[in-house]
Amino acid sequence: MQQLRRSRRLRVNDAIRSITRENVLTPNDFLVPLFAVEGKGIKEEIASMPGYYRYSLDLLQQEVKELWAMGLKAVLLFVKVPDDLKDNKGTEALNPNGLMQRGIKTIKDAVPDMLVMTDVALDPYSSYGHDGIVENGYIVNDPTAEVLAQMALSHTQAGADFVAPSDMMDGRIFAIRETLEEEGFKNTGIMSYSAKYASAFYGPFRDALDSAPGFGDKKTYQMDFANRNEAIKEVMMDVEEGADIVMVKPGLCYLDIIRDVKNVVDVPVAAYQVSGEYAMVKAAAEKGWLDHDAVMMEQLMAFKRAGTDLIATYFAKDAVKLLG
Ligand code: PBG
Repeated sequence: MQQLRRSRRLRVNDAIRSITRENVLTPNDFLVPLFAVEGKGIKEEIASMPGYYRYSLDLLQQEVKELWAMGLKAVLLFVKVPDDLKDNKGTEALNPNGLMQRGIKTIKDAVPDMLVMTDVALDPYSSYGHDGIVENGYIVNDPTAEVLAQMALSHTQAGADFVAPSDMMDGRIFAIRETLEEEGFKNTGIMSYSAKYASAFYGPFRDALDSAPGFGDKKTYQMDFANRNEAIKEVMMDVEEGADIVMVKPGLCYLDIIRDVKNVVDVPVAAYQVSGEYAMVKAAAEKGWLDHDAVMMEQLMAFKRAGTDLIATYFAKDAVKLLG
């Protein structure tokens, strides 16, 4: 019998592979997480995230200029808060002159067109290391959502383009959206961490911000990783409440969720390749067990193929350098 269909015809050389390739990565695919600390002249490497740093605001300015020159257009800002400013209610989060608020202004001063997305959650500010206010050992929902709305407002007033609530309280997207509308901020975007799972892959990030929970875990608010349908419920709730972009987190273990979500929403879908995923690649590459760049690009492409519109990744700079 004659072979009529031969898949290998489309793989014969680089040119045919290039013109028939289904997905491409560009700098527009990436969101760059940034960690800010107090001080001057500080660029300190995070022990469990080799090649990733916390910056004081003076040096953050340089970093952001470099990112913009590379074609990267959006950053996701996190701050490491000094211990003496932490309390149960996250009071410091609302300080108009806090590190986050100054960080936003610093980035906007350095590169006015850079999209600044800010982390909205209490854990870096919480004496308990939880994403919400603790009462009798429980993370209370509605009072937390109110603080998050004020926090989002404060970031917006400082100049944030997007706020990115990463806490998983119910109703916080509505609370934030309502507050922003009332205050006249009609064009501030909300990127919601909608389907965020209680994951062991966040370990290195908690080192970076010194934000590990002081007691218990985050399973009463973050999702159970056994669940798939629930992700759709979470995402649909957030879209109804006014989210402009929805996110699935972590990334690679959750590509099934990303695809499910992509199939049902009409807003962009982001995914977060989290700190533990980054650390695994770095560790294996350090040992000489994996080809760092090849594995990185294969993983990033997997996000695209699964349906991700925006990838928050610590590899953004490395990847863009390779894209050339
Ligand atoms: C907390 C927050 C976490 C991350 C982003 N925001 C950790 C957590 O939920 O405990 C993790 C990011 C990463 O691991 O790269 N609001």
